[in-house]
Amino acid sequence: MTARPDDAMATVLELLREPPAEPDTGSGYLDLLGTTEAAAGPVQRLWESGPGASGYERLAALVRTAFPAVRPRIGELRLTEGQRVLDIGTGPGQVTGELARLVGPRGLVAGLDLSVPMLRRAAGTAAPNTAFVRADATELPFRDAVFDAVHSAYTIQLVREGAAMLAEMTRVLRPGGRLCVLAPGVARPNERVRGGLERSGKLWLRPAAELVELAREAGLSEVRGSSHMVSQLLTASRPR
Ligand SMILES: C[S@@+](CC[C@H](N)C(=O)[O-])C[C@H]1O[C@@H](n2cnc3c(N)ncnc32)[C@H](O)[C@@H]1O
Repeated sequence: MTARPDDAMATVLELLREPPAEPDTGSGYLDLLGTTEAAAGPVQRLWESGPGASGYERLAALVRTAFPAVRPRIGELRLTEGQRVLDIGTGPGQVTGELARLVGPRGLVAGLDLSVPMLRRAAGTAAPNTAFVRADATELPFRDAVFDAVHSAYTIQLVREGAAMLAEMTRVLRPGGRLCVLAPGVARPNERVRGGLERSGKLWLRPAAELVELAREAGLSEVRGSSHMVSQLLTASRPR
């Protein structure tokens, strides 16, 4: 049986801790933030603008074609058909679409983001087994252990509370489920540059070794970190 977009949204609503009495899905995604505005840095403000969202889509496609080392590593999730996946910082939805293909019509992908223009773009090309949610990575709206895999590419650098984001990713992952986080940065960053980016850019560039520490603190097992050119990869599992 083929999934329809409404089915995907209905399933996502069932996965919520506190489903809204009147879900706001009028823009093609479930909006759980309304007019709430987060204190964003310059890069996040760009991703929350229309030109930023459309520019990102083109830029990401170009960069990923030219530099295979920075491509998302969704194979690390070891997905099988019919699984449920959460993609945090879904952006314009290109990677989310690849996840949707891997889990097939009986699977489900929930794409989560803060940015209205990104979510509009993502929802405009959504696969039928995919639904999008506007919410914050550090306060996931889902019940515990409802996803088989949790993915996030190039988003944790925009989140000051990296530990809270990993703790939330772990909470919604089922025992034995896989987690994959990709972040920009290098293995040994210059600390002065890093401090400046944090203060003025609101960018938190964490090397793989720090992501590994955060994952261990969050209680994950099989934790692995590695560095690939200018991207840092973290993979882990939730203990059974
Ligand atoms: C650089 S884009 C990455 C998009 C996509 N994952 C990709 O790799 O193509 C980062 C995305 O993370 C989103 N984001 C930033 N902070 C977030 C947060 N606290 N919660 C949810 N999404 C967030 C931004 O709005 C943006 O769409």
